[in-house]
Amino acid sequence: MTAQASLEERADALEQKMSDELDVLLSKSALFNMADGVLGASGMGFDLTTKAGKYFLMTDDPRLPKMPDRPTLLDFFKYRSKGTNHLLQSANLALKSGMPEKTVLACLLHDVANAIFIKSDHGYWGAQLIEPYVDEEVSWAIRAHQAVRFFPDESVGYKYPEMYVKHFGKEYVPDQYIQDAYKAARNHKWYMTARMITVHDLYAFDPNVVVTFEPFIDIIGRHFRQPAEGLGNDNSPVAHFWRTIRRPTKYL
Ligand SMILES: [Fe+2]
Ligand SMILES: [Fe+2]
Repeated sequence: MTAQASLEERADALEQKMSDELDVLLSKSALFNMADGVLGASGMGFDLTTKAGKYFLMTDDPRLPKMPDRPTLLDFFKYRSKGTNHLLQSANLALKSGMPEKTVLACLLHDVANAIFIKSDHGYWGAQLIEPYVDEEVSWAIRAHQAVRFFPDESVGYKYPEMYVKHFGKEYVPDQYIQDAYKAARNHKWYMTARMITVHDLYAFDPNVVVTFEPFIDIIGRHFRQPAEGLGNDNSPVAHFWRTIRRPTKYL
């Protein structure tokens, strides 16, 4: 049996089990399966035994925490992330070192994609997620931190993170697109905002330090244009991102 086949079988068995336990049928996007080394969407009705009286999920996934009808940014952190310690500690550091509010917000949201969406190319995804709701400088800096963090800047005491040597090896060289993005960012008027994200990014965060959202509520209120109808219910170009995070297994 190939590794692909056994993974696929395990994924199918798991979906079958979940669907058996719930009164809805669950499907999984191609991307979710790819994370397990399996190609293609699953649970599409062709490869899942359809049980009488059960329909495919078109609303909230009952396995995930229920979200309010008009979810806010904080609701997404509360109901769709496993923890926000890293973001809060980074923002806290920026706040303590007297950074402008926009930079504090950028630090608070710099890894939003890791927290609730997609890890690969997280700076790009994170920037896009919040782009319609924040000042352009904030989303620009979050996008750029993806590349900037791989390059030292002695002028602000930023060194190539030790952690990256541990994670990727001494010989690791960032992809060409990252090198190009860094070069472009280096000459940009908002370079320092992106750089400050990396300076306040905690590569070895302390699990014992607990920071709450409290000190950042007003900053979010002033700099994040929360849509009154709720993130995902608005008509922004990225509203579907938020809807998908809310309902990742919705059939269509
Ligand atoms: Fe990051
Ligand atoms: Fe980070």
